Amino acid sequence: MVNKFPRINFIGNKEKLAKIICDNIPPNTLTFFDAFSGGGSVGFEAKKRGFKVITNDIMKINYLISHALIENSKVILESEDLEILFSGKPVEGYMFKNYRNRLFFPEECMELDQYRRNVDKLKNKYKKSLALILLRRAMIRKMPYSRFNLGWNKITQLRDEEYSYRKYKRKRSYHNLEIKRHILDNLSLYNNAIFDNGEKNRALNKNVFEAIEKVNADAIYLDPPYTGTMNNYFDFYSLLDEFIKNRKSKPFKDNFIDKKRPYFFLINFFPN
Ligand SMILES: C[S@@+](CC[C@H](N)C(=O)[O-])C[C@H]1O[C@@H](n2cnc3c(N)ncnc32)[C@H](O)[C@@H]1O
Repeated sequence: MVNKFPRINFIGNKEKLAKIICDNIPPNTLTFFDAFSGGGSVGFEAKKRGFKVITNDIMKINYLISHALIENSKVILESEDLEILFSGKPVEGYMFKNYRNRLFFPEECMELDQYRRNVDKLKNKYKKSLALILLRRAMIRKMPYSRFNLGWNKITQLRDEEYSYRKYKRKRSYHNLEIKRHILDNLSLYNNAIFDNGEKNRALNKNVFEAIEKVNADAIYLDPPYTGTMNNYFDFYSLLDEFIKNRKSKPFKDNFIDKKRPYFFLINFFPN
């Protein structure tokens, strides 16, 4: 069984450490809880090792990664699903209205709006999640620095291949590839990552303090955002939640980024 973790590109991911982390799961563990699952690398490795895996993340898009790749044990995107996903014409939808010439060029927004609408026509919840995380992958690849909190001037500057070459000796032409191209380039990597480990794995989309009350597990892995730099996941990725829901997302209060509250996290987990 190969089941390679696909290219996700998640800030703060533990892809390189996932094996070491899972080597240290206590003996006799049957159920493993990845409480801040993010890009899903640790939960995925634990799934490969045969644990019953429960994942959780407060952001919808991160939940969908685990829903598609960890909870899902057999559903893949097939050619008839792609026909549905790519059907019709670009439309002036949510992305066009709110983010043209802010994060993407107008025609890219229209292409995203077209595919987003088509996702709802897919018949299976795992197919929908898979299509959405492939769209995520395409959107991230098109975005300089792989996050959605840059200004338009910076984005257009870095997407200018000549400028990028002059300045960084790299054209980064993948920023300018079609969304459909990105999806097709990643399709088999994502489909091949889906497998059954014989367990009923679950993905949750809750605030960790709520999830922890509900989940029964033998071992818990905690990888919250760290106080310091590069920790504002809402800023980085809430655009993806917005794209999925077609409405603005509210920043979450329990975000683990406030330096003045270092004990807040521990006190809540270990109240006694
Ligand atoms: C450091 S990342 C986890 C990275 C992950 N281990 C990986 O390998 O990709 C932290 C995650 O915590 C999530 N998060 C932040 N606050 C949360 C909360 N209150 N409840 C649940 N998840 C939260 C963020 O959305 C982010 O995905």
